Amino acid sequence: MKKIECIIRPNRLEEVKAALDELGIHGMTVQDVRGCGRQKGVRERYRGMEYTITLLPKIKLELVVGDEDYPAVLEAILEAAYTGEIGDGKVFVFPMEEAVRIRTRETGDAAL
Ligand SMILES: Nc1ncnc2c1ncn2[C@@H]1O[C@H](COP(=O)(O)OP(=O)(O)OP(=O)(O)O)[C@@H](O)[C@H]1O
Ligand SMILES: [Mg+2]
Repeated sequence: MKKIECIIRPNRLEEVKAALDELGIHGMTVQDVRGCGRQKGVRERYRGMEYTITLLPKIKLELVVGDEDYPAVLEAILEAAYTGEIGDGKVFVFPMEEAVRIRTRETGDAAL
């Protein structure tokens, strides 16, 4: 299993969720976050306004997927989150040791 943590534009979330839904991926955690990358948050446009502050609103989406699903999930996220402009975001991937569904105590892929 892998944990995919991605930081995306808020206005790409619906697109990304729809792409994941098409792959049958339904479990995820989404948070509103703020962040900056190489440009330190400057010279990036958000809703038409040029931001001069350091931290821009972003969405953090976390999901744990099985190893077989991982390549397709990554590709779907990369396509759905892409605009080609600076600030499109980033994907961080972690090895995931274990997952447990609390209700049934299923573990591993069966728990996802
Ligand atoms: N090295 C990092 N570690 C943790 N979070 C990061 C890192 N780089 C970027 N982020 C997060 O991703 C968001 C978007 O980053 P961004 O896409 O601007 O990265 P970038 O490296 O500047 O690439 P680009 O040149 O395309 O803008 C940031 O607001 C921040 O939340
Ligand atoms: Mg940037």
